[in-house]
Amino acid sequence: MNQQQLKNLLEDMSLEEKIGQLLQLSNSFYEDEAVLTGPAMQLGIGEKQINEAGSVLSVFGAEQIKSIQETAMKKQPHHIPLLFMADIINGYKTIFPIPLAQGCSFQPELVKKCASVSATEAAVSGLHVTFSPMVDLVRDARWGRVMESTGEDTYLNGLMSEAMVEGYQGDRSGEKLDQFGHISACIKHFAAYGAPEAGREYNNVELSERTLREDYLPAYKKGIDAGSAMVMTSFNTLDHIPATGNKWLMQDILRGEMGFEGVLISDWAAIEELVSHGIAEDRKEAARLAMEAGVDMDMVTGCYINHLQELVENGQLKEQQIDEAVMRILELKNQLGLFENPYKDADDNKAAELCLCEEHRRLARKAAADTMVLLKNENDILPIQETAGKIAVIGPYGEEGRLYGAWSLQGTDADTVTIKEGIEEAGYDNDQIVFYAGSSLLDEDEKLYGFKGLVKQYRERSNEDLLQEAVHAAKGADTVVMALGEHAYHSGEGGSRADITIPECQMHLLREIAKVNQNIITIVFAGRPLDLREIADCSKAVLYAWFPGSEGGSAIADLLFGMQSPSAKLSMTMPYSVGQVPVYYGGYTSGRPFNGNRTNRFQAVYQDIPNEPLYPFGYGLTYTSFSYSKPELDQQVMSMEDELHVSVTVTNTGKRTGTETVQLYLRDLKGSTVRPTRRLKGFERITLEPGEEKQVTFKITEDMLRFYDIHMDYVSEPGEFALFIGGDSATQNEIRFELQSQK
Ligand code: GLC
Repeated sequence: MNQQQLKNLLEDMSLEEKIGQLLQLSNSFYEDEAVLTGPAMQLGIGEKQINEAGSVLSVFGAEQIKSIQETAMKKQPHHIPLLFMADIINGYKTIFPIPLAQGCSFQPELVKKCASVSATEAAVSGLHVTFSPMVDLVRDARWGRVMESTGEDTYLNGLMSEAMVEGYQGDRSGEKLDQFGHISACIKHFAAYGAPEAGREYNNVELSERTLREDYLPAYKKGIDAGSAMVMTSFNTLDHIPATGNKWLMQDILRGEMGFEGVLISDWAAIEELVSHGIAEDRKEAARLAMEAGVDMDMVTGCYINHLQELVENGQLKEQQIDEAVMRILELKNQLGLFENPYKDADDNKAAELCLCEEHRRLARKAAADTMVLLKNENDILPIQETAGKIAVIGPYGEEGRLYGAWSLQGTDADTVTIKEGIEEAGYDNDQIVFYAGSSLLDEDEKLYGFKGLVKQYRERSNEDLLQEAVHAAKGADTVVMALGEHAYHSGEGGSRADITIPECQMHLLREIAKVNQNIITIVFAGRPLDLREIADCSKAVLYAWFPGSEGGSAIADLLFGMQSPSAKLSMTMPYSVGQVPVYYGGYTSGRPFNGNRTNRFQAVYQDIPNEPLYPFGYGLTYTSFSYSKPELDQQVMSMEDELHVSVTVTNTGKRTGTETVQLYLRDLKGSTVRPTRRLKGFERITLEPGEEKQVTFKITEDMLRFYDIHMDYVSEPGEFALFIGGDSATQNEIRFELQSQK
């Protein structure tokens, strides 16, 4: 349809029908029998409103979606097609590593490919929109949804945000949504959901406007500038005002400053939750506040459908506000080509052909290998050499199929390559390698509830039995590979944890194995950074696998035996202990920076733990080593107009080819407001043969030096700056330059 046709359609719709377009229903309205007595009664709506709904979430499968669409269009007064949306966070049927792991790749192009494959599989399975990318910056490992973010850094998150949007939508124009294999992205959760106090889910967020603008908002903007067709509100408050009813955040910032013109959808029941937050007397007031804030779609509550008409009729809202929301939704349906083809790419045959096809699995295997972080590798115990003798793989993850994260809604154990399968596929036979669980995954007394109820732990044998046979196997092995970790549902939504260690039954297993064999390589599965101190102490090598997805086992075999080398770098700080959290690189000096000498207690330091994390942001090893020359500048002084270049020479000083992510950090040594001790401003991945060296040069321009000054203006200020270039955020490889207002 063209714009005039859309306008004619809008004019022809009744107010009630227009309000129907703002209602998003859950799949239960289309899959269960007793709709009217069940879900509909809960929402206080009847058949007529159901027939006028504008979109549905969490329906999966081409044939089912086509059937629902066909029926719904017949009942909709103007036969307007439904939008079908779902959480395709890290893959549809082919499951990729969790986004926090994808951030560790430092490869936006790789992340874009994963998003593109996810979109294709979702599109042929009938979907039009994914509730991704989640762009919330995170600094608190206690929060379960860190797994869904790409990490703690503003610059890296911005690159990943735009990469995913382009991967889903086909390019930055938003003009290709109707083409095969493209779906609409939905930037979420606007804004700053990743900073809940105490890491507790849905909790209050306390951020200064300066921190919000400097650290949290830029990555949302990058995704919006990349053309994301949708944005989702967040559950949290900002400045004591819930985002979903926050006019300043949604109208002034999102629509005004950021220029977002697409569809704004609430998060799940977030409009109704304005009542629980205590800023709405009832659902009617909640509806008014959300509409005033500019929220177009009401996800799964009856607030809009039951109260907007009355609010318009009594003058508390203008029909024009409804019209603007409806028009944005009709325009999205039009961009997707749904008026011409309401089934878009839905095709069960294509889905059978494309989902989990070899090409997609190959990409998943590469992504998994490029996102696992090698944290320790004493005496180069990795990669395991042919001469390694007998290997015992011990731990509940050795043969576990659930290697995919909490938001992998269509992922299955059967579709996942386990570590055992990956190692066998690599040609290692039972004579050389044995597998023993050694313990259950969860502690016997733990009741863990996933997205669909209690997680059942099948215990055929007691942990004591399992332990004995594992210890026996370890005694007879030359090398032990421990496969340990938290459960996928220890993270994800509703996954806040105060104790960020793996289940005690597994730590007990590790301690007992370490008593009889010191050649231990530990693989850790997690959806968050964990307190790894004891695991690292017991292990000669630690490989952090996150939740790697469908090809997790193959990628682990590739890395264990050296078919691939690890190259990932931490996208989020690994804390020394949970007491440090929230912790992130490049903090602030305070007026009394710790000078290393604890005899003076009056300093910015803990009495009982170090200030430094166990492993910093940007850290990760590979199977070789690199040296860096001192940085060199092409000029010492820079004016506002020109640019400066800084270079280092990186050398592969080891015996194997390796890939290094060379990172550039910048520090403003003095500003009209306190400046962080460093912020990532660039990186470059380089692969070097043994002995090979390469010069890496970064360009420094004035806009990279800007921040929100004492007047909240986004400017740079003349003065001295430091540049750091190295293999992680703790590098001290420094050089300084001066910015002058004019030469
Ligand atoms: C959830 C999540 C959001 C998700 C939505 C739909 O509560 O907060 O990220 O997209 O509901 O499932």
